Amino acid sequence: MARLGQVFAVFAARQDPDDPLSGLQVGELPEPVVPDGWVRVHVRAASLNHHDLWSLRGVGLPADRLPMILGCDAAGVTDDGREVVVHAVISDPDFRGDETNDPRRSLLSERHPGTFAATVAVPARNVLPKPPELTFAEAACLPTAWLTAYRMLFTAGRLAPGATVLVQGAGGGVATALVALGAAAGLRVWVTSRDAVKGERAVAMGAAAAFESGARLPERVDAVMETVGAATWEHSLRSVRPGGVVVISGATSGYRASTELNRVFFLQLQVIGSTMGSRDELERLVQMCAVTGLRPVIDRTLLMEHARDGFAALAEGDVFGKIVLTRQA
Ligand SMILES: NC(=O)c1ccc[n+]([C@@H]2O[C@H](COP(=O)([O-])OP(=O)(O)OC[C@H]3O[C@@H](n4cnc5c(N)ncnc54)[C@H](OP(=O)(O)O)[C@@H]3O)[C@@H](O)[C@H]2O)c1
Repeated sequence: MARLGQVFAVFAARQDPDDPLSGLQVGELPEPVVPDGWVRVHVRAASLNHHDLWSLRGVGLPADRLPMILGCDAAGVTDDGREVVVHAVISDPDFRGDETNDPRRSLLSERHPGTFAATVAVPARNVLPKPPELTFAEAACLPTAWLTAYRMLFTAGRLAPGATVLVQGAGGGVATALVALGAAAGLRVWVTSRDAVKGERAVAMGAAAAFESGARLPERVDAVMETVGAATWEHSLRSVRPGGVVVISGATSGYRASTELNRVFFLQLQVIGSTMGSRDELERLVQMCAVTGLRPVIDRTLLMEHARDGFAALAEGDVFGKIVLTRQA
């Protein structure tokens, strides 16, 4: 165990549900401790997720854990020189099976310091080799948004090529991953967006069609991928065919929505909750990107020192794809 002074860090110093950026600080904090069985990763790139805004709003991060270094995703280099991608789900070392089902699991930046820093400490089994085909920035987009999308489509949704899937939202980190992964896997992907330009961009990257949020679709779909929540939930239940599936992993616009229970049983819908993904799924996702040439959509890349600009864009919804924060080697 070693405590090596201060490190550069982007962290939540305070929380405010209405003004999340007011508690964001860029500065220095004590370097995270590296317990036995853990490794230190020198972060080369990290990416922003809506999770980081939730933490600043006081959702999922108890105030008594502040100050907390933010960030779930990273790619970097270990002390012994290995180039790695970090799996953000930290489970109990004795837990066996899918880490996301460990009742004591947490994501980096919830209990343990996150990835927006010069270094991050993680259990040794939470690092995967970064294939040389992927840049650090590309690899840093995969562990949360892309892994979540991968599980939603292929594990939870069990979608086969040729199926039609509706993605609610077009511009978000998870939404763009759903479009890219779905199109690459031979699905017919439809998106909704509040912004026609984002819809067009989704079509340019492989979606078959884009619709205004809430619009009536030409036909019912086999599956809906939900991360928007209250604003789109009723539309999701109305858009899925009898016997179809709605997979939900987030509720950006709010958690309370009409459940329309009659639709769920009369139409024999499956509503499946989905969260992150296992280390094995991350390994397969990384491999899929390496061998197919599929790459995350990166909205912009900022030096970590300028993280505030990225948080502001995310809070305003002014994003198409992932915002990446980089560190110099
Ligand atoms: N369970 C998990 O493991 C997990 C993992 C990752 C993310 N999540 C959750 O999933 C959500 C998305 O995460 P993210 O990182 O992709 O966030 P993000 O990049 O900020 O994306 C937000 C998305 O929501 C859409 N949207 C926002 N407000 C909307 C509204 N009022 N009406 C319609 N669409 C709206 C946006 O679409 P347009 O701008 O195109 O309209 C965009 O696609 C977050 O709530 C996050 O916490 C959960």
